[in-house]
Amino acid sequence: MGRLISIASGKGGTGKTTTTANLSIALGKMGYKVCAVDADLTMANLSLVMGIDDADTTIHDVLAGRTDIENAIYSTAYENVHLIPAAIDWEHVIRADPRKLPEIIKSLKNSFDFVIIDCPAGLQMDAMNAMMSGEEVLLVTNPEIPCLTDTLKVGIVLKKAGLAVLGFVLNRYGRGDNDIPPEAAEEVMELPLLAVILEDPAVREATLEGVPVVEYRPDSKGAQAFMELAERIVKIAGLKARVMG
Ligand SMILES: Nc1ncnc2c1ncn2[C@@H]1O[C@H](COP(=O)(O)OP(=O)(O)OP(=O)(O)O)[C@@H](O)[C@H]1O
Ligand SMILES: [Mg+2]
Repeated sequence: MGRLISIASGKGGTGKTTTTANLSIALGKMGYKVCAVDADLTMANLSLVMGIDDADTTIHDVLAGRTDIENAIYSTAYENVHLIPAAIDWEHVIRADPRKLPEIIKSLKNSFDFVIIDCPAGLQMDAMNAMMSGEEVLLVTNPEIPCLTDTLKVGIVLKKAGLAVLGFVLNRYGRGDNDIPPEAAEEVMELPLLAVILEDPAVREATLEGVPVVEYRPDSKGAQAFMELAERIVKIAGLKARVMG
């Protein structure tokens, strides 16, 4: 049985899409069969970040009832990694029914080891539909208080809704002079800190190239942090299984 993990945050621009792409590729490199899903239905950009710009069939066609999910799954240039892209034009957006997202994404559980879901920020309906498609959630925040508290709010709501909150990623650390340090961030969040990812020009450059940093610059600090994040996420499952068993 696969794991369905939503990538979520309170504020926009924290690095959810970057985390989705890099975590998916990192898990693929470790030998797991992965499906990355663009569930940011109005501001889709996961495909571009992963270097795919010519998909004819998207999640929007599935949500519009025009085709089955199997027809929207693409293989990628990355080992073991598949992608379900989203459309970027408004005509597709208005025909799609976002309420069907959880049912459609959950149907992938038996076909992959990991389904990684790139969600919109916040707690509006579109974000809720995307986040509720997962069974677990990984929160992504930047080291600023309003960003941490908004992300915490999302974590609390999702926990109440029945998702397992794995912990959070502190991304873009070291960009500002007044960044909240990792230990203080962990105290605010009261959740496990699973990775600190430094502000790294290689990450931004990789985004522009359409080749995520774990592939574009595997030796960079950013890439190494994403690889370590993937290892921790795999281990959390092991721990949980032991506790429950
Ligand atoms: N650690 C990092 N170092 C440098 N740049 C980064 C880092 N993480 C993300 N970025 C850059 O920040 C920008 C926003 O990242 P991303 O698109 O992943 O955020 P997001 O949370 O998905 O945004 P949205 O809420 O709009 O969907 C991108 O240009 C990305 O390359
Ligand atoms: Mg995004």
